[in-house]
Amino acid sequence: MTAPVVLLLSGPNLDLLGEREPDVYGSATLDDHVAAATDEAARRGLAVEHLQSNHEGTLVEAVHGARGRAAAIVVNAGAFTHYAWALHDALAAFDGPVVELHLSNPGRREAWRRQSVIAPVATGVIAGFGGDGYRLAIEAVARLLGAECGPDPSR
Ligand code: DQA
Repeated sequence: MTAPVVLLLSGPNLDLLGEREPDVYGSATLDDHVAAATDEAARRGLAVEHLQSNHEGTLVEAVHGARGRAAAIVVNAGAFTHYAWALHDALAAFDGPVVELHLSNPGRREAWRRQSVIAPVATGVIAGFGGDGYRLAIEAVARLLGAECGPDPSR
């Protein structure tokens, strides 16, 4: 049986993690976070597909491509979180669970970060736990998908 796919989406500037504002986002790179998510997923019988883009349309098209194919989406939309309504609409057309993810806690930062256009179409939000959020997001997805994904006995 093939493992259900979790589409992990990373928005703008997340490709700079490790160099970008390390006091806010930590020193780990995006590759480190994707590896953590991938390991956690494998332990739970899930497969991660990752895409990072600095372009809203590319992320919208990735969500379209996930329809009927991926079991769930985990999305750290970066600053698109706060204004990208096209991404909101694309996620609204996706049937499975959607977990909104942030390294920082936008709720305790600048006022403009307190609005999320992703939140209204997210099953839940994980924010403020730094890199641990990637593992937690996969755990949340596994719980939401429930019995569909058993453990991988090789791990
Ligand atoms: C972020 C929070 C956003 O406000 C910001 O624009 C980002 C990263 C986070 O992971 O904490 O780029 O999504």
